Amino acid sequence: MTFTHTLGALAAAALLAAPPAWAQAGAKLKVGFMLPYTGTYAALGSAIENGFRLYVQEQGGKLAGREIEFLKVDDESDPSKATDNVNKLIKRDQVDVIIGTVHSGVAMAMAKAARESNTLLIVPNAGADAVTGPMCAPNIFRSSFSNWQPAYAMGDVAAKRGHKKAITITWKYAAGDESVAGFKEAFEKGGGQVVKQLNLPFPNVEFQALLTEIAAAKPDAVYTFFAGGGAVKFVKDYAAAGLNKTIPLYGAGFLTDGTLEAQGDAAQGLLTTLHYADGLNTPRDNAFRLAYAKAFKLQPDVYAVQGYDAAQMLGVGLNAVKGDVSKKAEFGAALKAAKIDSPRGPFTIAKNNNPVQDFYLRKVEGKENKSIGIAVKALADPGRGCKL
Ligand code: PHB
Repeated sequence: MTFTHTLGALAAAALLAAPPAWAQAGAKLKVGFMLPYTGTYAALGSAIENGFRLYVQEQGGKLAGREIEFLKVDDESDPSKATDNVNKLIKRDQVDVIIGTVHSGVAMAMAKAARESNTLLIVPNAGADAVTGPMCAPNIFRSSFSNWQPAYAMGDVAAKRGHKKAITITWKYAAGDESVAGFKEAFEKGGGQVVKQLNLPFPNVEFQALLTEIAAAKPDAVYTFFAGGGAVKFVKDYAAAGLNKTIPLYGAGFLTDGTLEAQGDAAQGLLTTLHYADGLNTPRDNAFRLAYAKAFKLQPDVYAVQGYDAAQMLGVGLNAVKGDVSKKAEFGAALKAAKIDSPRGPFTIAKNNNPVQDFYLRKVEGKENKSIGIAVKALADPGRGCKL
């Protein structure tokens, strides 16, 4: 070997051994929140951010040894602005990871941009089935649920409770459509029938005409997907119309999560299914709730848990790649091998990067969604159309 070859080899070896540029410079990890900070889902966005920040704070402000810089975009739950908004984080701010969002329509545009730019994306709420279905990708993960999951669990519960004819009512967009489809799949498998599907545009809350239609049709049960401000109004209107006395109302648990303070008496006794509940009374959940209440002077809800767990998932993946987000395959492999120690109870990540988790049956008692048991254990999204 010649002298110059030796030098070249030494230089190459030194380069290989050297830590990446960001590590040498001690660069901060750029985390971009794309969440709704205004509109019907505003409270959900802030709970997610709170939960995420709480976990990071518990780790001393760092994940995998890297300090964190937060950037924020308000997506307004508006799909028409979603591509421009997500590109503020990807192209302008050049974030290392995006945490977002709540609304399924916005999340699908984010997933497309994340796929095209190979940016790490962790979805801390939006259930769009496509994100862990046909649009699934090695760099896209979810800390929450697919729309199919809680809905399927409730369809199963409603059928087992002996209901035969159900009407569904929801917002006409991906989350509502997919929630109704999941409910219908399990309910009809259990011998029930969805006899009518009622819709209104997101985020409208003019429910009166549709409630009149339900009252006239007299089904055995009503299934619904609403969340945030819309859920508050729907539960109140359902009770004001007197329907809570005559036709049992079931929902994906978003109907009553983070909303009970505002719904008051109208929500009492409602049954919902969700991957989180009050009264779990595990050491893990108790510690989380105490820390959250102390930090934010608020009670946590499912959104806070999903934000907290998005940070936990990011931490697990980053630890495996020593903070180097470019190693997407190793990052994903670590998550699939992990058990996430969530306040909701431990969960795993399936091949399609969606949580496999228990769904609780909850009953509203006072200001709480009390767990009254597990509706479906370790429920995995079917991941239809995902080729991972
Ligand atoms: C959704 O759009 O996927 C969505 C929004 C709010 C929720 C749940 C799902 O609470």
